[in-house]
Amino acid sequence: MFRFLPEPASEFAPEIDWLHNWITDLSVFFTVLIFGAAIYFAIRYRRKGGVDHATPQIRGDHRLEVLWTVIPTVVCLFLAIKGILVYNHMRTPPSGTLDINVSGRQWHWDFEYANGKRTTDHWVIPVNKPIRLIMRSKDVLHSFFLPDMRVKNDVLPSMYSYLWFKPIKTGVYHTYCTEYCGKDHSAMLAKLEVVSEAEYDRWLNDNSEELAKKRMEPGKLGLQLYNDKGCVACHSLDGSPKIGPSFKGIWGRQEELVDGSKIVVDENYVHESIVNPQAKVVKGFPVNGMTSFQGLISDEEINAIIAFLKDVDKYAAQAAAKAAAVAAASTEDLSLLTSAERGERIFKDVQYACSTCHSLDGSRLVGPSLKGVFGRVSKFADGTSATIDEAYIKESLLNPSAKIVDTFGAAGSASPMPSFQGRFSEEQLADIVAYLKTLK
Ligand code: CUA
Repeated sequence: MFRFLPEPASEFAPEIDWLHNWITDLSVFFTVLIFGAAIYFAIRYRRKGGVDHATPQIRGDHRLEVLWTVIPTVVCLFLAIKGILVYNHMRTPPSGTLDINVSGRQWHWDFEYANGKRTTDHWVIPVNKPIRLIMRSKDVLHSFFLPDMRVKNDVLPSMYSYLWFKPIKTGVYHTYCTEYCGKDHSAMLAKLEVVSEAEYDRWLNDNSEELAKKRMEPGKLGLQLYNDKGCVACHSLDGSPKIGPSFKGIWGRQEELVDGSKIVVDENYVHESIVNPQAKVVKGFPVNGMTSFQGLISDEEINAIIAFLKDVDKYAAQAAAKAAAVAAASTEDLSLLTSAERGERIFKDVQYACSTCHSLDGSRLVGPSLKGVFGRVSKFADGTSATIDEAYIKESLLNPSAKIVDTFGAAGSASPMPSFQGRFSEEQLADIVAYLKTLK
């Protein structure tokens, strides 16, 4: 009864659940007992027929006194001791933990690994390894909450706080902020992936995302950073004022500051405003409206944002056109998209559920990952091998059992993948191929 906790995913979760369930059951038992008795007596001994009844004089009962003193004492002591033991376990990390730095800021979680890898609102850890989080806030009080792991701790701007747990099963979990910290508190979420040790190592050392960013045109990267780093929340691209000044036509604009002096928006001003936002605040905007991005953004990234701001109207138009194309596509006008973009929509379409079995990041699911799939040389269950090309992809969609990639099934066995024969048109097959070609 009353089992509302998510499935336990950390080593000490079962202990916590056991205690939690005991306390819940005891509370429910005594609530029913006490209220039931009160209601029963109120009815049983109510005043009847307008006549008072004499109340017997009871001077006490030693057996009852002992019972209702000893039983609750034993129960409470038992819960307290059990609680202290569990609490101790939760507060004492074993040696050899994998340490991850966590920092909270309005309204994101940043993670930093020992090799310098940084992520925002997404983190990955290996299963069956004790994890220790060293947490601090960049601004206000947040609280780091992982219900599946049964851990929660405040994250403060004034001191470090810690959490540890040992994940016992792989999967995707949610990280919440559970202390009201401002407007977007409820959106302050991070995705946690618990994966095998090998996958974790691959992910930790995979810098393809950084490489892709290095190849990106600076202004486009700036636009991406504008969205990823949360600038979008406070700075519009269409001239409308939000918490901060709009970016529309910002480059070279003369701004009046809160102290009455004037400034022209140039490289130095943008750089300073990102790392030290309080230095020169534009008149009419809150002095403490923005937190510093010092340490959260590299100089190259700031340069990309500068490139983006120099041509902000062009990039805003591109972003709007893309958003319009996506919106139009959702009403089935796919012709505005490129073939690869249509393929991506098919891949992400829930009715085909491709992503349930094929990851994009190299991790192993039911089927092979599609990361870098095009042109890869694959070994098949029957011992042959071939380069993954257009023909193979089409064959695998229409007849998945034909050539099963080795380690995903025996030769001659039926693939777990359904055939898409008759479900995709030639154009759709070509779109999927075009999309897979982009998955470097
Ligand atoms: Cu951070 Cu709520």
